[in-house]
Amino acid sequence: MPDSNNGRNSLSRDGWTLAKVEDFSALASFDCGDADLNEFFRRDALAHRKELLAETYSLCEDTAGPYPVALMSLANDAALLKPLKDRLDLPPEKQYPARPAVKIARFAVHRDFQGRNTGPFALNMLKYFFRTDNRTGCRLITVDAYNREPVLRFYGRNGFQFFHDKDANRQTRVMYFDLKRLALGL
Ligand SMILES: CC(C)(COP(=O)(O)OP(=O)(O)OC[C@H]1O[C@@H](n2cnc3c(N)ncnc32)[C@H](O)[C@@H]1OP(=O)(O)O)[C@@H](O)C(=O)NCCC(=O)NCCS
Repeated sequence: MPDSNNGRNSLSRDGWTLAKVEDFSALASFDCGDADLNEFFRRDALAHRKELLAETYSLCEDTAGPYPVALMSLANDAALLKPLKDRLDLPPEKQYPARPAVKIARFAVHRDFQGRNTGPFALNMLKYFFRTDNRTGCRLITVDAYNREPVLRFYGRNGFQFFHDKDANRQTRVMYFDLKRLALGL
């Protein structure tokens, strides 16, 4: 399965490319079936970029033009070590108070491509993206997942774990993926 890393802001695999969105008008017709997420990608993602709060990446099929099948907005994050201490297998001298992370601030698959493994494929691209050619150290991917059974099951199936149970009754639950678990050359 050939990979090509086309520079730091995009990654291609099997005829698909994950790349930073430059033309936000391509997001105008994106529909994941969730009104809040649609609104974010159609209107707010560009404002988040201008304020340096998040960068948005799209997954597109190389032969289909700039029509995103999945979108994710990413931001830098730091995860406190305390709830993770016994789970990350860190040597005593490297137990810094926080772990560097990238947060999936928003994530959605176009409704026509849901239930077809697009989400797992996009997450695998993201995991690989943050294990190779990084500008800075990044140990975890974090996400505030919608506290709905299908969404939590989706992230769990893709290797994400809960930080703790304190948010079990909140609207979103914080989850993480340990990038050190990723076998390179997927
Ligand atoms: C959650 C989401 C990212 C998962 O991506 P995906 O590409 O659909 O992932 P999968 O192919 O692994 O399918 C995930 C589950 O949704 C089900 N599903 C999703 N769309 C479906 C559809 N149109 N018909 C039938 N099943 C569907 C799949 O069968 C699977 O169910 P399971 O957990 O019982 O096995 C995507 O469904 C989505 O964007 N949903 C709307 C926005 C959202 O909730 N984002 C998450 C914010 S934290």
